[in-house]
Amino acid sequence: MTARPFGYSGGELVCDGVPLAALAAQFGTPLYVYSANQIAERAQMFQREFADRGHLVCYAVKANSAIGILKLLAKQGCGFDIVSGGELERVIRAAGKKKAEVCGRVVFSGVGKQPAEIDLALREGILQFNVESEEELDLLAERAAKLKIKARFALRVNPDVFAETHPYISTGLSEHKFGINIKLARKVYARAKGNKWLEASGVSVHIGSQIRSVEPFESALARVIALIKQLRKDGHHIRYADAGGGLGIDYGVGNFEPAKQVAKYAEALKRALGPLDITLLLEPGRFIVAQAGALVSEVLFTKKNGAKTFVIADAAMNDLIRPALYHAHHEIVPVKQTKAKGKKVDVVGPVCESGDFFARDRELAPVKRGDLIALLDAGAYGMSLASNYNTRTRPAEVLIENGKSRLIRRRETMKDLFAPELG
Ligand SMILES: Cc1ncc(COP(=O)(O)O)c(C=O)c1O
Repeated sequence: MTARPFGYSGGELVCDGVPLAALAAQFGTPLYVYSANQIAERAQMFQREFADRGHLVCYAVKANSAIGILKLLAKQGCGFDIVSGGELERVIRAAGKKKAEVCGRVVFSGVGKQPAEIDLALREGILQFNVESEEELDLLAERAAKLKIKARFALRVNPDVFAETHPYISTGLSEHKFGINIKLARKVYARAKGNKWLEASGVSVHIGSQIRSVEPFESALARVIALIKQLRKDGHHIRYADAGGGLGIDYGVGNFEPAKQVAKYAEALKRALGPLDITLLLEPGRFIVAQAGALVSEVLFTKKNGAKTFVIADAAMNDLIRPALYHAHHEIVPVKQTKAKGKKVDVVGPVCESGDFFARDRELAPVKRGDLIALLDAGAYGMSLASNYNTRTRPAEVLIENGKSRLIRRRETMKDLFAPELG
């Protein structure tokens, strides 16, 4: 488990030396546990590899939007990629007194930005709006004129590049809803040039998520760079090439070496950039937080139905939806180390859906009622996608910092859940 901060020590699963069983006893289950060290290290991998180029790592808030984690990344010098006004509010809370500085490192992506969200981002002076349609650009111009604040924008272009990943998280083909056809982009930039409230500052691209090979990133960025050269000739002062996020991790048990993967990714992007003098924006999410996190859960029951054995955990699809949504694989391990031979089981949650499973026909060490299990690599798109389905309260989140645990989000209560209901 080298790419993960979770491993066995003295027969117990620990995160950076802190036993998960003790955390479960203190904070209850289901519980998200994250390693601050690994999150910082992963952010630094990008910063190191791109140190010889003007760059800014804008962590994709959607991957894990816990304010405790945003604070940690802001301290690492990261900027942020947001997709809603709500995510900007989170960044502002994380930034504290450094609000102006941190907001100056924010890019705003997303296909459906609304006037109030645009206004907030304009007022906070974000670095750049990544605009995804002509109508959105018109709205941005209108809001900027109204507030008398110039809007820096990039068009998010759709490069029509295929990337091998799950169809739900592939975004760079012309059939997807994302971006503006790259062939039409020049015209749109030309049209914006006449508007004094708009300033074309960049070109952006994002081709999808959990992409393991680096070639598609290189192809997409090469197309962006060609467009930037053209736009500069057209008289636009383009300073930023935004390569998006999407670099994938290994959810299996392979010999994944994250530092080497980032080095390969950096080489590929630098090849696409060539000698061009430009600041590269990067929007990694998953790669920074996925392997830093695990979801700890207690076994409620085990039972047999026909030939199948089910392990019913107290965590469910509402806490971690990736297996149900994408058939995603998460390694599942017992918190107490055992040498006992594994048995094939389905690991499921209590939610009333057959889709509420974490693993099917998976070899798992024998577990019984009351035992703890951990779902690994759950730091990205875990808690940020959690819901209250079946009127379940969302888990607590704990951050391990230098061998100490800190509750960064308490478990929700029924009172929290019922607060907005008017009966
Ligand atoms: C525009 C944009 N940037 C960055 C990301 C982050 O992707 P990942 O977590 O795969 O790095 C996403 C995720 O879908 C995205 O839509």
